[in-house]
Amino acid sequence: MSQQQDIVLSGIRSTGSLHLGNYFGAMRNFVRLQETHTCYFFIADYHSLTTHPAPEDLHNNVRRILAEYIASGIDPEKCTLYVQSDVPETCDLYLLLNMIAYVGELERTTTFKDKIRKQPGNINAGLLTYPVLMASDILIHRAHKVPVGKDQEQHLELARVYARRFNNTYNCEIFPEPEAFNFGANLVKVPGLDGTGKMGKSEGNGIYLTDAPEVIRKKVMKAVTDTGPTEPNQELAEPIQNLFTILDLVSKPETAAFFRDQYARCSIRYGDLKKQLAEDLIAYLAPIREKFEQIINDKEYLGKVAAAGREKARASAAKTIAEVRRAIGINRL
Ligand code: TYM
Repeated sequence: MSQQQDIVLSGIRSTGSLHLGNYFGAMRNFVRLQETHTCYFFIADYHSLTTHPAPEDLHNNVRRILAEYIASGIDPEKCTLYVQSDVPETCDLYLLLNMIAYVGELERTTTFKDKIRKQPGNINAGLLTYPVLMASDILIHRAHKVPVGKDQEQHLELARVYARRFNNTYNCEIFPEPEAFNFGANLVKVPGLDGTGKMGKSEGNGIYLTDAPEVIRKKVMKAVTDTGPTEPNQELAEPIQNLFTILDLVSKPETAAFFRDQYARCSIRYGDLKKQLAEDLIAYLAPIREKFEQIINDKEYLGKVAAAGREKARASAAKTIAEVRRAIGINRL
């Protein structure tokens, strides 16, 4: 299938400001893909309800993510940029896919098991069926490529299962099997600054795209390190590897090579590495932050973008849902 025909879709939850993980795991690919593909990008506000945000916070977060999408280079003229809850057809499909999704397979997903550990007081059914809603987002536009970070891999697997199962159950070929996508060979996992694990919105270990320079400096200088290498060419411990991973993303190759060499010779000064990393991050993020400041309070503009996106997304979704209903046998009497 040619690139023109391949449909791309991805979403980001409205749970707070976007961080480097969101950008390098997902958005950087969105910006490239919008040049060559038919793209749908959206704000997953329904998905953020599993943690019961206050209505005011939810509203502000949706507006914020919309502005951050645009500030990061997503062009509403080149793609369909919309809010998930503006497209009720997604919920129709969610209900229908729930009938072919098995509780056992949902209970086995790592993200669900994680949530059970993290929020034992609020294990709602929305958490269990989170991957079904995500599959609905993808399948409602019959997407082929889904640019996401490593943490979404298992959800994508389930979306493939539901596409296949639906087609088999109803003897049709409505859904292509969507694939997790990254321009590099592997899906990306951006680490946090706290030594271990991935950068996350709830982990408090992130650099946000709109962080002020002094905030970035403070966060980077506080990043976890170790006592330093004790013998030449020693393997990098995880917290140090993490700093290099981020350096590789935002700094010049020579900069990363310089500090790697210093590490190998046991002459590295983590303070210097951090100072350089902070300055490179600040320079990298400056254009995003500037654009964000320009548009975040322009409610009229953001409202227009959302309305145009809603219209385009609903037109595409309506076609799919009509075919789905027909395949299932839900016809007008
Ligand atoms: P969310 O909002 O948690 O994250 C949005 C995107 O950012 C990526 N990401 C990362 N990538 C690399 N390293 C990290 N540390 C990191 N942290 C986050 C995520 O992989 C994701 O691509 N369930 C989704 C939202 C969603 C969706 C969809 C995505 C809802 N429906 C349909 C694709 C298609 C989520 O929670 O993403």
